[in-house]
Amino acid sequence: MIDVLVTGGAGFIGSNFVRHALAAHPDWRVTTLDKLTYAGRIETLSDVMDHPRHAFVRGDIADDVVATPLVQRSHIVVHFAAETHVDRSIASAGDFIRTDMIGTYVLLEAARNAPHLKRFVQISTDEVYGSVPEGASRETDEIKPRNPYSASKAGADRLAYSYFATYDVPVIVTRASNNYGPYQFPEKIIPLFVTNALDERPLPLYGDGLNVRDWLHVMDHCRAVDLLIERGVNGETYNIGGGNEIANIDLTHRILELTGRPSSLIQPVKDRPGHDRRYALDTSKARAHGWAPQVDFVDGLRETVEWYRANQAWWRPIKEQDAAFRAYYASQYGPARP
Ligand code: NAD
Ligand code: DAU
Repeated sequence: MIDVLVTGGAGFIGSNFVRHALAAHPDWRVTTLDKLTYAGRIETLSDVMDHPRHAFVRGDIADDVVATPLVQRSHIVVHFAAETHVDRSIASAGDFIRTDMIGTYVLLEAARNAPHLKRFVQISTDEVYGSVPEGASRETDEIKPRNPYSASKAGADRLAYSYFATYDVPVIVTRASNNYGPYQFPEKIIPLFVTNALDERPLPLYGDGLNVRDWLHVMDHCRAVDLLIERGVNGETYNIGGGNEIANIDLTHRILELTGRPSSLIQPVKDRPGHDRRYALDTSKARAHGWAPQVDFVDGLRETVEWYRANQAWWRPIKEQDAAFRAYYASQYGPARP
């Protein structure tokens, strides 16, 4: 059996990856290590909690007593755990430094002495390139992160590389574009706007709405990570993007159309400080290994809207009963409640 450690497996992408890994690899034994922060939910993994090849450990990646033995018994580590929301990093960066940078350092230190380790996947982000006014970022481009989240991820991204260059830890780094799909926490634009639209509440669009993101279906991301575990080259970095660039205002109109709501729900609000205008990725390196996104954005977005419509039991408790979420929403968007 191959022992696979997935950090952050109770979050959005990590949980989709755990499900994918168990289905695609009958010889993988998967351990999820997750602190269950506000963004991590045990309910997200409920269908695999009793799976015979899955174990769940609640713990902090920055706690070496918990994290080190888990890394050291693993053949593969897929490191998703992070603080991930840009707006929260702007409000308060401390948790981002502690988890994204120090937590990654703890895992990498453990990886230095892991006897069976064949692969350490550092899940990074296209945000490390900073805003890209034109063209598409290549892996060799300079990184210029511009907010505390992307700066902490850039630190972890290069720290992981340094453990390959210095200690020969079998690291690969992946930099993905904006993911969408089931189980995304309803603070990110797509789940926030879909759930607000379903409830006929305002959609708070930042600035002029012309910022551009490139959308990648979460399962296309999971398939890319899986393939790169197999075929990636140690020390290399791989961009993973969906090739679906769209301005936020156009995305918002599509969500309104799919939910059957009027454009009067759009509420222009103050822009995000340091708001990156555009991200775009050149994905030819990952494609040369045989990966390509499979989910069409029109279908993927429609299915995602349907998932949120059908799975209100997953997101309503967060938006309606979680006092911390409601406090966050009020501080971010003003007194109007979700
Ligand atoms: P998420 O916020 O949905 O989930 C993060 C998970 O990490 C949660 O389950 C949380 O409980 C856990 N976690 C946080 N701090 C922890 C700690 N100290 N110890 C253990 N667990 C901890 O995030 P996501 O959107 O699924 O992102 C996963 C990874 O992918 C992150 O590294 C993120 O930077 C990266 N990424 C995300 C996107 C995207 O669009 N969502 C795009 C590119 C890269
Ligand atoms: O690009 C990859 C990154 O994508 C990941 O590394 C991050 O973890 C992930 O959160 C995401 O970051 P973004 O900042 O791009 O995602 P977010 O959903 O917060 O915002 C997407 C766009 O929508 C951005 O231009 C800001 C805008 N926006 C967002 C929110 C939450 C709004 O206009 N209104 C909002 O309320």
